[in-house]
Formats: sequence, C-alpha cells, structure tokens
Amino acid sequence: KRVAIFISGGGSNMVSLVDSMTGDHPARPVLVLANSADAGGLEKARARGVPTAVIDHRPFKGDREAFEEALQAELVKAAPDILCLAGFMRVLTAGFVENWQGRMLNIHPSLLPKYRGLHTHARALEAGDREHGCTVHEVTPELDDGPILGQATVRVLPGDTPDALAARVLEQEHRLYPAVLRRFAEGNREMLRLTRD
Ligand code: GRF
Repeated sequence: KRVAIFISGGGSNMVSLVDSMTGDHPARPVLVLANSADAGGLEKARARGVPTAVIDHRPFKGDREAFEEALQAELVKAAPDILCLAGFMRVLTAGFVENWQGRMLNIHPSLLPKYRGLHTHARALEAGDREHGCTVHEVTPELDDGPILGQATVRVLPGDTPDALAARVLEQEHRLYPAVLRRFAEGNREMLRLTRD
C-alpha cells in the first residue's frame, strides 16, 4: 500500500508513521505534503528519503477549491492508496473528502466524540476530566467526526497544564497512529483501544 501524509508543522506523527513502515509492514510512504514551506516536518521527511511537496495555502486566500485542486494534483502524481492527515491544520471541503473517503485517516488529540475542534487539552482540563487521550478516525465531511479506528487514553494528573497534558497525549499519538495505520493497510477496521504501556 502507498501512503501519503499531510502535515502543517513539526510532523512528529508523520515521523512515527514513516518510521513504522518497514520490514513486513504492508505499506510504504510515497509522499509527505505540507501546506507551508516552513513546516519542520519537511526536513525530517527528506532525511528519511520520502518525497515531499509544499502547497502553501496562503496564495489561494479563501479559495479552498483551488487550494484543493493543487493538493489533488500532487496526489494524482503520488498515487497513494491511503492518505493520512497528521497535524494537518487546514479544513478540507466535503468535495475533497468525498474523493478520499474510506482511504483517509486523521489523528485528533481528544477522546472523540468529546472535544472536536481546537484547544482540546485546555477544554478537558476545564471540564475536570480525569481521562483524556487521542483518536484515529476515518475522515468524513463533518470535522473530526468519522468512524473511530483507534483510541489511546492518558490519566489527567493533578496540576496538569494544557502543555503537560498535550505532551502526554502526543506520546500516545505516536503509538496509536502507526498501530492503526498497519491494521488499516491490512484491511482491518476493528477498533483498537491502547492502554498506557
Ligand atoms: C499536535 O498538537 C497533535 O496533538 C496533533 O497535531 C499537532 C502537531 O502534531 N495531532 P505533529 O507533531 O505535527 O504530528
């Protein structure tokens, strides 16, 4: 299976995914695409020999369709079987998503369906949640709403700040996403629940 990964920033989830696709793994990375040339993950992808592309969203201003046509042109070249969003911070239209539905995954830093959208760690703390975590789901036109493929949970600790909690969740993201991608590439859609190692 050929896997393309979309990033916007440091790409730590992309690195975990790329580094997991070795040996008898049924998938290989064929493209890492960023929506900004400044994305730190691009260098990490290049260091791993993964082809990269940059489609900066800013020149397109509010024209989402034109931006997505540029994304699609890169994907046609790379011809992936699976598209992984990994810290990708642009909302994609229903039109784009429908093209890839069933072959497109995203990782979200909350236990969906709780806390769709942004600032998930601060919201979990605000709510006094004792547990928090991350979710890998299939992407559908509704934001952070598709079928859940895997979740990992962390305990919220006394005195946790959003940053401390985010760091603990990110560690679990790096375990969960590769585990879910491998199963997804093998055609296994069964929900995976990861407990702390
Ligand atoms: C992190 O906040 C992570 O929780 C979310 O995207 C952000 C950046 O992740 N999934 P990455 O390091 O770029 O993968």
